[in-house]
Amino acid sequence: MDDYIKALIDLHRGVGREGPGDLAFSQQILAELPPLPAKPRIVDLGCGSGAATLLLAEHFGVPVTAVDLAQPFLDAMMEQAQARGLADRIHPLAFDFADLPIEPGSVYLLWSEGAAYNLTFAGALEKWRPLLAPNAVAVISELTWFTDNVPDEARRYWENAYPAIGDEAENTARAKTAGFEVVSTRRLPSQAWWDNYYNPMLERIAAISNPNTTMQAVINEMQTEIDLFRQYSQHYGYTFYVLTGVGPTA
Ligand SMILES: C[S@@+](CC[C@H](N)C(=O)[O-])C[C@H]1O[C@@H](n2cnc3c(N)ncnc32)[C@H](O)[C@@H]1O
Repeated sequence: MDDYIKALIDLHRGVGREGPGDLAFSQQILAELPPLPAKPRIVDLGCGSGAATLLLAEHFGVPVTAVDLAQPFLDAMMEQAQARGLADRIHPLAFDFADLPIEPGSVYLLWSEGAAYNLTFAGALEKWRPLLAPNAVAVISELTWFTDNVPDEARRYWENAYPAIGDEAENTARAKTAGFEVVSTRRLPSQAWWDNYYNPMLERIAAISNPNTTMQAVINEMQTEIDLFRQYSQHYGYTFYVLTGVGPTA
């Protein structure tokens, strides 16, 4: 693991999430999901330290396979799972979610927050579609343009950081191409970014004394991202795409 990734992981220590999200918002999505079998096989891909994994394990009362490349995040998740009496239900898997050792057609709920972009939204959908059982559901959040008049500064920043960023119409088209039907889309409120991610992150940054050069670079990048969101949050954010598979699974 290179120094930059180590610093990025360290920066997130104690923050509780590795990206914007909100438990009440996710619970609302869960309450409105299409029906699933009584004991669905569930995976959380790019689970980080497991905010959604723990919620899913509690909500469904069944095992959840939680996949992430970063072992320190999985360790933090299992600590939480122990504390909340959920450790038996969580199966951590330190693996690349582009190449999962999961039987095709076996997953009934695929959840992924803030992680699909690593393969691009289209790339993630293409890789993950074969995992789904018939009538399975996928809930995948993706950084998305919310307006068609995004200011240049925000557009330049995100098109450089994530060239595949699109709006909901583009992402809906990508989902259809990958063999999904879009059941609904929901935008994570911008307040959730502050309450659950950026404000805890700013506290963490303030607590890091004498950062080394790499950590300082990671902090500077995070600060730039936060400043941009402060100015332009009405123009972009996370859309949660609730999807079902159509057509053959593999
Ligand atoms: C922005 S974080 C989101 C984490 C968590 N879902 C959350 O919302 O707090 C993205 C996560 O994806 C993981 N990740 C990135 N690429 C991955 C890959 N190819 N396979 C598995 N995990 C990956 C990262 O380690 C990181 O924990």
